[in-house]
Parts: sequence; C-alpha cells; structure tokens
Amino acid sequence: MNLLRPMLEDDIDAVIALIESHDEDDAEDAQRFYREFNGCYGQFVLEQQGELIGVTGFEAPIGCDQSYWLSWTYIDARHTNRGLGRKMLTELFDYLQQQQGGRKLFVKVSDYVDEEDGPIYAAALHLYESMGFSIEVKHEDFYDVGEAQIILGMWLQQEQESPTVTQQHVAIKFNEIFEIGETEGSWSFGWHERKGGGSDAPFTVEDVQTGMDAVREESARCVFLSFPSNYAGIGDPLIESGFTQAGKLKDYYADGIDEVHYAYTFNQKLLASTPNET
Ligand SMILES: CC(C)(COP(=O)(O)OP(=O)(O)OC[C@H]1O[C@@H](n2cnc3c(N)ncnc32)[C@H](O)[C@@H]1OP(=O)(O)O)[C@@H](O)C(=O)NCCC(=O)NCCS
Repeated sequence: MNLLRPMLEDDIDAVIALIESHDEDDAEDAQRFYREFNGCYGQFVLEQQGELIGVTGFEAPIGCDQSYWLSWTYIDARHTNRGLGRKMLTELFDYLQQQQGGRKLFVKVSDYVDEEDGPIYAAALHLYESMGFSIEVKHEDFYDVGEAQIILGMWLQQEQESPTVTQQHVAIKFNEIFEIGETEGSWSFGWHERKGGGSDAPFTVEDVQTGMDAVREESARCVFLSFPSNYAGIGDPLIESGFTQAGKLKDYYADGIDEVHYAYTFNQKLLASTPNET
C-alpha cells in the first residue's frame, strides 16, 4: 500500500476526532465500532505530514463468499475536496481485489439533510457512484422519519453472469427482536434456520405477527428484514403480512444468491391495530 497503513489501537482517538470534524453522532457510533465491536482489523488510515487525516476499511460479513462492506470512511473536514478520498478508496479497492480476492463491495449511506450544512453525505454518494457503485436498495425512513438508508454495491472483479441456483426448503425460527443500531425506532428480527424444512414457506404469517406484536410493544416505527434469495417461498408470508420488497443486494452471498430486503412501516395513527389492517 502506498498512501494507507493499517490502523492501530493507538490511532483510535485521532480517528474519532477526524470523524467528529464532520458529525458527533457518527463519532460516537464509530467509537463503539472500534472499541467494542470490531477493533482495528481491516481498517486503514491516511497520514499527511505526520497528521492522521483519513480513515477507511472493510468488514467481511459471515456466510458470504468474498463480499465486503466498506466501513467508516472519512477525510478530515479541513482536507476534503482535494481528491484524497478518491485516492484512498482506489487504494482500498485495489487491496480488496488483489490481496483479499474480493468479489463484491457494498456500502451504506444516509440521505440526511442537515438544516445548516445540507445533504452531508452528498459528496460520499457522488464519489461512490463515480467510482462504480450503483444503488441496490433504498430503505425510506430507516434512520429516522425522512432519513433513508441507501445501500450501494460494486463489483471488484468482472461481473459474472449469475448461475441458476436451486431453491432450498428451510424452516426459519425468529428468536429475538432488536432495534437496529444508529436508528430511531427501526427494528428487525433475529432468526436461525434449520435445513431440510418442509415444502411450505419457511415461516407463517402467524410467526411474523408474533414478531410484529412484540416490536409494536416497543413503539417501533418500521421493521426491516432480509433473507437469502434461494430460500423457497420466503416472500409470501411477508407480503401477506403487509411488508414490501425494498430491493436486493445482488449476488451478496455468492454468485446467484442475493440478499432480498423487506420493509414494513407502521401507520403511526393505527399503531394499536394489527399489521394486516394498517
Ligand atoms: C466522502 C469523503 C470521504 C470524500 O473525501 P474527499 O477527500 O472530499 O473526496 P474527493 O476530494 O476525492 O472527492 C469528492 C467528490 O465529491 C464531490 N462533491 C463535493 N461536495 C459535494 C456535494 N455537496 N454534492 C455532490 N458532490 C460533491 C467533489 O466534487 C468530488 O467529486 P469529483 O472528484 O467528481 O470532482 C469526505 O467528503 C467525507 O469525509 N465526508 C463525510 C463523511 C462521509 O460522508 N463518509 C461516508 C459515509 S458512508
């Protein structure tokens, strides 16, 4: 690597300060990411004249074949718009492609519009799209009312023609509900699968209803769920329960196996009624 070097634990304070130069809430969330969740594995920093002014990195989702997520990517606010972000990302993409055998890269961006500073992630969105990412999923009202989550994907290798993948019959059990990190009132269900389920859908409308009742108790605004595209009949009980398909991350798990995203927004006026009736 030329510009980037691996991030060390001693860099965390300086990285948090540079993220804070853009957004205090992001700095708090990033702090948790480095100190409690991920550490510095897969993270890189950019220095200029001994000053740490950029950070980027990747995470590898479990169960995926060479797919990666781009993690906290920031250039210190005093140094933006000088081409450093593009150079930093070019080097990271080369590394993922050549050293990690990366197949696809994904990134999440908010469309938050700050009252004073305007759309603060507009430069990131522009940069990502100009470097080859395209929008694959958009979740309206994800972070908060009026603040969507946009997920973009990019091929790190020549895009493959998706093979035909056999549908699997699995049984799925929902085992928890949780509020999605960095959101105000967006919830999801945890689940695990048992292979070799019957020929019916992996779960029933009643199973979904149980989860919806539980998140409604927590005053959830929205529910977001995602599943592999090769699970037979997965959409039926969700659509019947009032969910809509919000797009898919193409070839997320492997070539031919996407991650399909579903969304449900509670009608705030009818929070006391059942999902089917809202
Ligand atoms: C995104 C970020 C890392 C880019 O770093 P950078 O060093 O400014 O990037 P570059 O100078 O290489 O490129 C910035 C590009 O955005 C464009 N840009 C700048 N402000 C913009 C705006 N408000 N709307 C649209 N495009 C904008 C620039 O013109 C440039 O594009 P070009 O190369 O086609 O001319 C930096 O802006 C940043 O830290 N932003 C805040 C944090 C952030 O959004 N991180 C990503 C979260 S997912």
